[in-house]
Amino acid sequence: METEKKKLFSAVQPSGAVTIGNYIGAIRNFVGLQGEYDCIYAVADLHAITVKQEPAALRRNTLELMALFIACGIDPEKCVLFVQSHVPAHCELTWVLNTITYPGELSRMTQFKDKSAKHADNVNMGLMDYPVLMVSDILLYQAALVPIGADQKQHLELTRDLAVRFNNRYGQTFTVPEPFIPAGSGARVMSLADPSKKMSKSDENPNGFITMSDDKDTIVRKCKRAVTDSGSEVRAAADKPGVTNLMTIYGAFTGKSFEETEREFAGKGYGDFKLAVGEAVADALAPIQAEKARLLKDKAYLDGVMKRGEESARRIAARTLSKVYRKVGFYRGE
Ligand code: TRP
Repeated sequence: METEKKKLFSAVQPSGAVTIGNYIGAIRNFVGLQGEYDCIYAVADLHAITVKQEPAALRRNTLELMALFIACGIDPEKCVLFVQSHVPAHCELTWVLNTITYPGELSRMTQFKDKSAKHADNVNMGLMDYPVLMVSDILLYQAALVPIGADQKQHLELTRDLAVRFNNRYGQTFTVPEPFIPAGSGARVMSLADPSKKMSKSDENPNGFITMSDDKDTIVRKCKRAVTDSGSEVRAAADKPGVTNLMTIYGAFTGKSFEETEREFAGKGYGDFKLAVGEAVADALAPIQAEKARLLKDKAYLDGVMKRGEESARRIAARTLSKVYRKVGFYRGE
């Protein structure tokens, strides 16, 4: 796969349910980028263990996320799709980059502070080093572009800082990546229970999020219970965050603009609208869920995809790592 296309890297952690927020904000965009860029997508299991994981669940979630990626339209023939722990270079580069990273840079990270507060009983070195592992993911593949959500922006800043720092110290080695927000992906999906918060699978209230595997009844119920605002008009506005969020979700699954949705529901109440949102989401997810279920029954196929992804990823990563090892002065034979 030696082309002139720019390289693009992204990853998702296999840490449980994937919400429609993850789908709209990340996975769905990954699909559209496959033609234009050399895309490399990983299941970030090394990142996942920075918080406690049940081993059997982690194993299952890795397979499920792989199946979901493919069911959503990521084509393993068009991109490199692999599991992070299958490529040892991620850990190897992390070690080297740790030696040019300062503890203060990591302890200042917003996500580290948030996660430390949330998992106060398990503030481990991996949690602190998480950003350096992410830096390694990106730099190993010489990615020029990294599609990320707002919560990962600081980590991408660190990626750029470390790439420049290493290049300055040892000579040109790494591509300095840019964050990448694909056109039309601005939609941020908020919690159905509290539209001032981002939709998150770690919300204590399961009515706040819809997962990619929720069935139709569950989706419709969650939409019906979604917090809406005073008044009864279906209209996007700053003082109507609940309705606006539902309109965002509706638009993401039907392609309808706010104006079209406003026209469609003119004179109708929230009840009709919420039902329509639930049905639109459920109808859009149904084929993805069916395809994912089919793939999960074909383990040999999924294992084969992972194996081929691993081989391609190893090949690209080995090139960068060997350059790094030479530059830092590790003896490689005469
Ligand atoms: N940390 C990212 C997240 O939780 C996942 C991730 C791991 C990632 N490595 C990456 C994203 C490299 C982009 C690039 O969302």
